[in-house]
Amino acid sequence: MNTQELISTAQKLIADDKGLLAMDESNPTCNKRFAKLGIPQTEEARRAYRELIVTTPDLAQCISGAILYDETIHQKKIDGTPLIKMIIDAGIIPGIKVDAGAKDMAGHPGEKITEGLDGLHERLLGYYDMGARFAKWRALIAIGDRIPSRACIEANAQTLARYAALCQEAGLVPVVEPEVLMDGGHTLERCSEVTEEVLQTVFNQLYIQGVMLEGIILKPNMVLQGLTCPLQKEVSEVSAGEQNYQVRLIDRQQEDVSEVDKGADATVKCLLRSVPAAVPGIAFLSGGQSAELASSRLNAMNVRFKSRIPWALSFSFARAIHQPALEIWQGKESNVLAAQQALYHRAMCNRAARRGEYNASMEMTTSSRKQGTNDLH
Ligand code: G3H
Repeated sequence: MNTQELISTAQKLIADDKGLLAMDESNPTCNKRFAKLGIPQTEEARRAYRELIVTTPDLAQCISGAILYDETIHQKKIDGTPLIKMIIDAGIIPGIKVDAGAKDMAGHPGEKITEGLDGLHERLLGYYDMGARFAKWRALIAIGDRIPSRACIEANAQTLARYAALCQEAGLVPVVEPEVLMDGGHTLERCSEVTEEVLQTVFNQLYIQGVMLEGIILKPNMVLQGLTCPLQKEVSEVSAGEQNYQVRLIDRQQEDVSEVDKGADATVKCLLRSVPAAVPGIAFLSGGQSAELASSRLNAMNVRFKSRIPWALSFSFARAIHQPALEIWQGKESNVLAAQQALYHRAMCNRAARRGEYNASMEMTTSSRKQGTNDLH
């Protein structure tokens, strides 16, 4: 294992307040997102979208690493230049998703185990030769009635640790992603409890498998209430028939620290209890939050805790960085420039959030800029 190379790559991934861009959706997931917007679900449309992303001007000002999917790492720009070369030439480190997806876990209804360890050693060597210097593996943990089970948490933690050990042996920094899903009506407290148990188990397994913590990046969920938890509703979404609820919610907002700060506090508290200080960086997934909320929450954590925590708090967002760009693009060449501007803007907002300098006025600038751009197209 080349310890120095791994440590150096991990440090570069978190340097200069930059973060990771996850553009590694599997074909079925990418197609699902395309279908919602009426974009053809073809290899060429996926290639064109990934070309749009990697040719976004100045992306490297905010993005240190880009996570690719196997199809993408083999694709080329329309002029024949490999996309991975475009990424390296831009000064961005290429990474690769290497898990084979989450499958139903035998004997555990409602739970998943991520597969892909078979042949992983050879695949990692191949990706290293192509230029990849880090990898990603995502484990999914659902919260529900009597789940997650210990069996699911332990099986996924052990698999993540075996993947991480194989990555380090091949010279790639493992991004270790145990994602506690936002789906469901659970409270923030329940999410915190589960996330802590998952992280404790993952770090125990990383220790058992001999993974060098200085050469990994942790990619966890933020600690948040479930998407359908009643308190999740925004005031603006509350219907007239729910006015009592609305009053309660407003009262709660006035008497409590804001919901964003509360989530920031719960997330950092959970991480402090479970993530060793040797880990250089924690790069959150966005998990289905809106782009603005993901930036606000990352910002709140850095404003409140940056000077008191041992690791860098960064981002490794997919939807919260490029979903707005996808919605603008809609598969049309004439929308490429506007989509790239939206993508750059989100990357820039998240870099600001790493510095604790993100604020709502940055979004107002976007709306006026978007308006201006639409006029051009
Ligand atoms: O594995 C999931 C992605 O890398 C992060 O995606 O930010 O849309 O949750 P997300």
